[in-house]
Amino acid sequence: MSDVLPVPVSSRESGDSAAFIAALPKAELHLHIEGTLEPELMFALAERNGIRLPYSSVEELRSAYRFSNLQDFLDIYYAGAGALVEMQDFYDLTWAYLQRAFTQNVRHVEIFFDPQTHTGRGVEFATVVDGINRALVDAEARLGINSRLILCFLRHLDEADALETLDAAMAYRDRIAGVGLDSSERGNPPGKFREVFRRARAAGFVAVAHAGEEGPAEYVREALDVLEVVRIDHGNNALDDAGLVAELVRRRIPLTVCPLSNVKLRVVDDIRDHPLKRMLNLGLFVTVNSDDPAYFGGYVNENYIAVAEALGLSREDLRQLARNSFEASWLDAEAKSALIAEVDAVMQTER
Ligand code: ADE
Ligand code: ZN
Repeated sequence: MSDVLPVPVSSRESGDSAAFIAALPKAELHLHIEGTLEPELMFALAERNGIRLPYSSVEELRSAYRFSNLQDFLDIYYAGAGALVEMQDFYDLTWAYLQRAFTQNVRHVEIFFDPQTHTGRGVEFATVVDGINRALVDAEARLGINSRLILCFLRHLDEADALETLDAAMAYRDRIAGVGLDSSERGNPPGKFREVFRRARAAGFVAVAHAGEEGPAEYVREALDVLEVVRIDHGNNALDDAGLVAELVRRRIPLTVCPLSNVKLRVVDDIRDHPLKRMLNLGLFVTVNSDDPAYFGGYVNENYIAVAEALGLSREDLRQLARNSFEASWLDAEAKSALIAEVDAVMQTER
């Protein structure tokens, strides 16, 4: 563990939206831990583990981060995750992210991890969870960051594989709060995972799913109706179905939106076309998140800044987004109201 703790960014001296955003306490609810693997750490871990990466340098790797769609990205993301082998690797990865999150005033994080990416190449489930979990425990003690862990099933694999993964997770029931669904969306509807989600919910895991990122509005509906999720990850394409939007608003289903990811993966053509402001205006319960920040050019504050600047968000909008991030989280009611009070206090002092 590093002995040098980062210092939160102080922003009181400046009045612009970047400073205001930096000062806002935030929760991050859509963050793949494997997507925080920065090229420098990827190379260091590959060397430590005697693994050859298909790139000769950090620069060459970074220059490969130009994606035409989700699958283009996933191919590189799964290759990069191959550098993670030992428990210490998962610890170092998670600790590096948490230090960054601390500097951005992230107070609570609900972290996705993809065990099948690792067990599929011979890394034990326990190695992955123990490494991540140790860093989460240290972050609570040393950085004051709360967290929950969400196991994502890979939707390009079959349900039998997901069921085996759920069996492995049962021994970690106390350390894993929820289950999710990620990877290649097109052609892999939520309904493919009906049984594993039914069993997971019966065992007490809270359910979420990626839906409506590249897939149609119908997949969002299916995630709600068949998987009984409490949050939708992304959800952009729900906007194509007015009835569905009305239901999401009425039921206050949070959408964990990821603006820079959407631009990098060509879900939107340009950040100025991003639907976040429209979503807010429709009354949708939206939050802003970074998804895979090492690949998409920014952590959570950069995501807030990008939409604030491109869409002309007001301070009231930004406050709403920060409040939503805690409201939509799995913190208890007392912790939520304390953190929301801190958000409101920033509104008073940051003039
Ligand atoms: N895995 C990591 N990031 C993802 C994303 N944006 N969509 C689907 N699966 C993912
Ligand atoms: Zn995601």
